[in-house]
Amino acid sequence: MPPSALPDTSAPATPADLTGRLYLGCDYNPEQWDPAVWREDVVLMREAGVSLVAVNVFGWSDVEPAAGRYDFSRLDAVLDLLHAHGIRANLGTGTSSPPPWLTAAHPEVLPVMADGTTRYPGGRQAWCPSSPVFRRLALDLVEQVARRYGSHPAVALWHVSNELGCHNAHCFCDESARAFRRWLEHRHGSVDGLNRAWGTSFWSQRYTAWDEVLPPRLTVSTPNPAQVLDFHRFSSDELLDHLRAETAVLRRHSSVPVTTNFMVTAHQRQMDYWGWAPHVDVVAQDHYLDHRLPDPAAELSFTADTTRGLAGGGPWILMEHSTSAVNWQPVNVAKVPGEMLRNSLTHLARGADGLCFFQWRASAQGAEKFHSALVPHAGTDSRVWREVLELGRTLEALQEVAGTTVQADVALVFSWQSWWAADGEGRPSTEVRYLEQVHAAYGALRAAGVTVDVVPPGRSLSGYRLVVVPELYLVTDDEAAAITRYVADGGHALVTFFSGIVDEDDRVRLGGHPGAFRDLLGVSTQEFHPLPVGREVHLDDGARGRLWVEDLATLTAKPVRTAVDGPLPGVPVVTRNDHGAGVGWYVATALDPASYAALVSEVAAAAGARVEPAAGPLVEVVRRAGAERRYVFVVNHSADPVDVPVMGLELITGEEVRGLRVPAGAVRVVREKEEL
Ligand code: GAL
Repeated sequence: MPPSALPDTSAPATPADLTGRLYLGCDYNPEQWDPAVWREDVVLMREAGVSLVAVNVFGWSDVEPAAGRYDFSRLDAVLDLLHAHGIRANLGTGTSSPPPWLTAAHPEVLPVMADGTTRYPGGRQAWCPSSPVFRRLALDLVEQVARRYGSHPAVALWHVSNELGCHNAHCFCDESARAFRRWLEHRHGSVDGLNRAWGTSFWSQRYTAWDEVLPPRLTVSTPNPAQVLDFHRFSSDELLDHLRAETAVLRRHSSVPVTTNFMVTAHQRQMDYWGWAPHVDVVAQDHYLDHRLPDPAAELSFTADTTRGLAGGGPWILMEHSTSAVNWQPVNVAKVPGEMLRNSLTHLARGADGLCFFQWRASAQGAEKFHSALVPHAGTDSRVWREVLELGRTLEALQEVAGTTVQADVALVFSWQSWWAADGEGRPSTEVRYLEQVHAAYGALRAAGVTVDVVPPGRSLSGYRLVVVPELYLVTDDEAAAITRYVADGGHALVTFFSGIVDEDDRVRLGGHPGAFRDLLGVSTQEFHPLPVGREVHLDDGARGRLWVEDLATLTAKPVRTAVDGPLPGVPVVTRNDHGAGVGWYVATALDPASYAALVSEVAAAAGARVEPAAGPLVEVVRRAGAERRYVFVVNHSADPVDVPVMGLELITGEEVRGLRVPAGAVRVVREKEEL
């Protein structure tokens, strides 16, 4: 079977080459294996249809075995072998993990934690993002790699470092302190400006000189929240600066597109990728199912939709996911038969054109030896390998979907800055966690059959029928104005509790909550009443609320649901406000999932947004469309068949359908017929 190959030409690749076809790929770490195994690898890659492999991701100690001494013999051989078999390389700059000779000679590059303790080599990514020494040595390596391979015909993509900030996003060393001060001076202009922004009149924190300012190292009491927030911003910017520095070197030697793998995920919140995305040629994302979450499959969909948002709605690359278990959760749950295909094709349905895995061959040694791979420890006579072959065949059957875009008329506003600020210390309830509220809103939309685009605050919202704004705690005046204007012009916005509370410096907006959205929502709250763990309020329609109610007065809004018990019986909990030509809805509690989905359906209907009737918590229905053709993806996670009212050619089975029946656990993709 021919592989789903990227164009195998000697011309430099462009982002279009990477997004014009669907392709399968993986991390490939041949340095762990004997060259005899490499030859078997490329044959198997062809068999599976693997056409893009990430190499040299952790290659530093291999290609620079001693300071300034480079040895590219192994990488030369690997790239030539790949090229000879028509497999393109996503070539790592190799800087993600410094070799032991480097950290031994320059221990000052090692990261330091908030408590002043150093993190030593022996794992990976032990480097301080603000270290000038690390930066210089890393760029020296990038220079060598880029010069040597900048126009190698196998190279389709540059892969800068790896998951920047995965382990080392926050460093509190003296070098970081100096860089933090420079960053603060740039943001706030003067020490007085800093004092105003951080509210240092409180607790005797007024600074008189830059040298007094520190990163938020461990304190005996609650730290200054504005200082912590700025440190988050600074740390994200430092890593972005590193990405840009490596990219600049690559661009001097090569016209091949550049990316790095983002981590839009529940357990990584340190990078504000809205600011990063414009700096890569193609957006790439790593995703692993997280079994510590209540609904891992829904989180997968949320991250895919967010990644599409980072890609500006266009196609993106899933740079890593797993064929089965990972090795870094407390219990590493293996995927059941069919689950890998459902996961992979959910990413595809939500806009990914490239589906890549970590990693090609399961390691025999090292920290990740129990992580799944395309070729498992058991070898190719295995269920996992057979499912990999099936995925390769399925991608071939779906080739015509490449380059089409996901259709959504509802937006969900997501903000890393709100995440940082809202989950800070000293808030009304530590049980209210930003991402959980985002996931709850997203889960309700997904269960109601609504496909959403995830967008940053401040983005123009015109064209959407409905905008959902979960716990947007921190919002600038301009960002709030964009949402208010959108509603005044006729849109519907659904805002949830603890939104619009502070400005960009974490300064409370006075005069009644939710300050920034008071007029839009037509409500004013005097006091929050967070609910203790296990306590619920009941609403007049039978719905249940957790975590929160508030002493809310309607100004111009109408109550839609009211509390019948709890600390404030009779208080409105869901409200609706006509604002200009549109409507602002407010939800002041954490609704139980079924009631949340029911409310979202009601609001979507009022807003005229598209709802997929066959969808539900276990059935995803997503549409992609191009200039001439429209596709409906159905992912059935449930144990029962599901019927979807769609007509056309089903691409995986090749059957013409008039009403589609999707078997339990299966995925189907229909090219729709016009008459629908
Ligand atoms: C990612 C990383 C890979 C591998 C994988 C395991 O964080 O980029 O190198 O460690 O996770 O799930």
